[in-house]
Amino acid sequence: MNVVILAAGQGKRMRSDLPKVLHPLAGKALLGHVLDAAREIGAEKICVVYGHGGEQVRSALDAPDIAWALQEPQLGTGHAVLQAMPAVACPRSQHTRDSASRRASGIPGTQSASAPTASSTLVLYGDVPLIRASTLQRLIEAAGTGSLALLTAHLDNPQGYGRIVRVDGAVKRIVEEKDADDAERAIHEINTGILVAPTAALARWLPNLGKRNAQGEYYLTDIVALAVAEGMPVVTAHPDEPWETEGINSKAQLATLERVHQRTIAGQLMEAGVTLSDPARIDVRGELVCGRDVTIDVNCVFEGRVELADRVVIGANCVLKNCRIGSGTRIAPFCHIEDAVIGADGIIGPYARLRPGTELGRDVHVGNFVEVKNSSIADHSKANHLAYLGDATIGSRVNIGAGTITCNYDGANKFRTVIEDDAFIGSDTQLVAPVTVGRGATLGAGTTLSRDAPPDQLTVSRAKQVSIPGWKRPVKKKKG
Ligand code: UD1
Ligand code: MG
Repeated sequence: MNVVILAAGQGKRMRSDLPKVLHPLAGKALLGHVLDAAREIGAEKICVVYGHGGEQVRSALDAPDIAWALQEPQLGTGHAVLQAMPAVACPRSQHTRDSASRRASGIPGTQSASAPTASSTLVLYGDVPLIRASTLQRLIEAAGTGSLALLTAHLDNPQGYGRIVRVDGAVKRIVEEKDADDAERAIHEINTGILVAPTAALARWLPNLGKRNAQGEYYLTDIVALAVAEGMPVVTAHPDEPWETEGINSKAQLATLERVHQRTIAGQLMEAGVTLSDPARIDVRGELVCGRDVTIDVNCVFEGRVELADRVVIGANCVLKNCRIGSGTRIAPFCHIEDAVIGADGIIGPYARLRPGTELGRDVHVGNFVEVKNSSIADHSKANHLAYLGDATIGSRVNIGAGTITCNYDGANKFRTVIEDDAFIGSDTQLVAPVTVGRGATLGAGTTLSRDAPPDQLTVSRAKQVSIPGWKRPVKKKKG
């Protein structure tokens, strides 16, 4: 199966400098979703037809299994697929890996674009992101080997779409809205645009398309009448869900499909046993893997790959990106966690920020307004209030007092702080790295530690407390 993805359209109605197919849906480019669907059905060759300004598209999504065909100017969907034919019909033009394997297996490769293989080609749109592999599979099965298969739908309001014209039930042609007469406009079966055709037939038909129509474009849809004229069967299949074939032309449509997609993901999570306080208020922009009895409160955003082990509870308004949370850990509301690994039975937040390189052991507490970066905190340690722990290695059963700061940066270089097991760090302490607090050491409140603190002793650096009798506060001088 070859797949051609049409992505040359400019997307003017997005009113954006970003090419339309690069706009993200669930954190992934629209075209990325379509590429995933193509890969899921086991596409052999994928050719993306891109257009003006499309270099950005190419560099964002290039991969070894993609061939790129430039369509400039854009003269219609038929002209667009024609640009992809050298890539899908000729193994040597773009797919050297493929032709090499053909040679190795003794299968003769084709010599030019005009001698295509006996494969089929599936046409997808780069701005129709939610098409599902199961629907495509059904379309491919309907096509068999020698038929043209169209994905069609019956819509209450078919306005704007090409209409499927049938005679005695058999598909005869597709007429575009702008070319249709009143009777044709009354047809409710529409062309979604997605189709499967024998590659050889496409290569034969496409160069012969005309453009004598209302839009002066080379219509891909005209191949239907050509197939009928040749006596090739034209069959149809339908999407499981209406939103699968909806295209995106505006920010409003993008937002609508984003919600549809998020609702689908929420449904899958609940199906798997996850408790969602409100399935309409969760955003998964990547992969969220949950154990048993996970609970997620409202307005949480999950990005990249996030793993929540059994019984994890995520409070409202948390953002979690590329992290693993151990079983039984509770993340209180308003936490931001990125590239971090958190052990079991912890209590995090509210208002904690765990930055990249954070590793927390078992039963670790990180409280409000605590920032942790590139640091490990071992089992049963606590940093419950107002701290910055950067580039630190912290042992077990350590207590970090409120206002503790690791001074890890001298303006040019970063240094580590080591705090050994059972240390107690008094409030408002600065640890000027590199520095080590020995096992069981206590730092008095307000200490600025610039040399190592020995184990099991109290280290205090603040000045001795004095009281000055008779001292008066300054008073404001009268002017003039
Ligand atoms: C097309 C179909 C119509 C169908 C509708 C479904 C044709 C002639 N008409 O109409 O029957 O109901 O889609 O949405 O095929 N594109 C290119 N190069 C071009 C023109 C388009 O790459 O020269 C791409 C666009 O980026 C888009 C897709 O092809 O992804 C469809 O183009 P669009 O202009 O939206 O097609 P319609 O006129 O709406
Ligand atoms: Mg159009």
